[in-house]
Amino acid sequence: MDKIKIFDTTLRDGEQAAGASLNAQEKLEIARQLEKLGVDIIEAGFPITSPGDFEAVKLIAQEVRTPVICGLARAIPADIDRAWEALKEAAHPRIHVFISSSEIHMVHQIKKSREEVMELARTMVARAKSYTDDIEFSPMDASRSDPEFLYKLLEAVIDAGATTLNIPDTVGYAIPSEFGELIKGIRQNVPNINKAVISVHCHDDLGMGTANSLAAVKNGARQVECTLNGIGERAGNAALEEVVMALRTRSDFFNFETGINTQEIYRSSRLVSALTGFAIQPNKAVVGENAFRHQSGIHQDGVIKMAKTFEIMDPKEVGIQASSLVLGKLSGRHAFKQHLTELGFDLNEEDFDRAFKAFKDLADKKKDVTDRDIEALVAEELRTT
Ligand code: KIV
Ligand code: ZN
Repeated sequence: MDKIKIFDTTLRDGEQAAGASLNAQEKLEIARQLEKLGVDIIEAGFPITSPGDFEAVKLIAQEVRTPVICGLARAIPADIDRAWEALKEAAHPRIHVFISSSEIHMVHQIKKSREEVMELARTMVARAKSYTDDIEFSPMDASRSDPEFLYKLLEAVIDAGATTLNIPDTVGYAIPSEFGELIKGIRQNVPNINKAVISVHCHDDLGMGTANSLAAVKNGARQVECTLNGIGERAGNAALEEVVMALRTRSDFFNFETGINTQEIYRSSRLVSALTGFAIQPNKAVVGENAFRHQSGIHQDGVIKMAKTFEIMDPKEVGIQASSLVLGKLSGRHAFKQHLTELGFDLNEEDFDRAFKAFKDLADKKKDVTDRDIEALVAEELRTT
């Protein structure tokens, strides 16, 4: 199977989420965990933005030796020089240069013509290349850019030395089939495209970050940029755990592997949540508290008989010990009996029927039926027989 590179930008775009600021030590702790997780590239930060971010990128470059360590830079000499200053001690450094390519950004945000953007992209990639071989280029807002202009821009930066071309859906506007076509168009219309790896970077404003990334993979992207728990600017980025587990669980469809040690996913997710202070929604795919919990009687019955009836991933694959059956008003006799056994009760038929009825009455009134509730109600039923 061919490999999809995982480019983690939790420490750069993830940290851009309002309220998610991390200090250098916290960033280093996450970077060490990302190394254990097996990501190919860590985007450690945007060194020009603050002395603290510069120090964090430098520290990670010095300490984390297996993955590529990447720093972000606008297509501005001072940014590129600063990024290199932070990265130069890395075992595998990468400079990531970006400039907007959509009409709306060029006219209203950076106030530059197409020719100026083309020239800056070429010369700044060449400047970055004078420092190191591994250069990534991103045309910001690519998914809203004129494809013909995009093709020419990409061709020019490859000639200037870019080795990875990252196609961002900066504002999360793309639809999967459309984004897949964009990647296909790039493969077909950029003459020197085989000299570079195509990457994608999808935001989640319409909830399609993961779907767009996977559509891109189907159409030739070989690097996916993502963040743990999907944190990032506004609604966030494609979630690493979703992209990786979709590629793995549906390898029959994608036929790709990643280098991710999936058993480290849960631990990584919790660390990012703890250090950013961003809670994970209970129904979050793969890492949410409810992702492997079953409440309805029909589902619980199925899982007791065979886990795969209602579980497409083994929780152990992502580092969660086991799935669980949550007792509530929808639970059936089967699940209740199993739970009683786990709590050490072995009731005869008649006691069980009474306990089950008492449990159903309680579950109608109470959202969470705890083990203590169950112990109390069984004790009460046994006492009154
Ligand atoms: O969303 C975006 O376009 C970015 C770029 C800097 C790659 O984060
Ligand atoms: Zn982004």
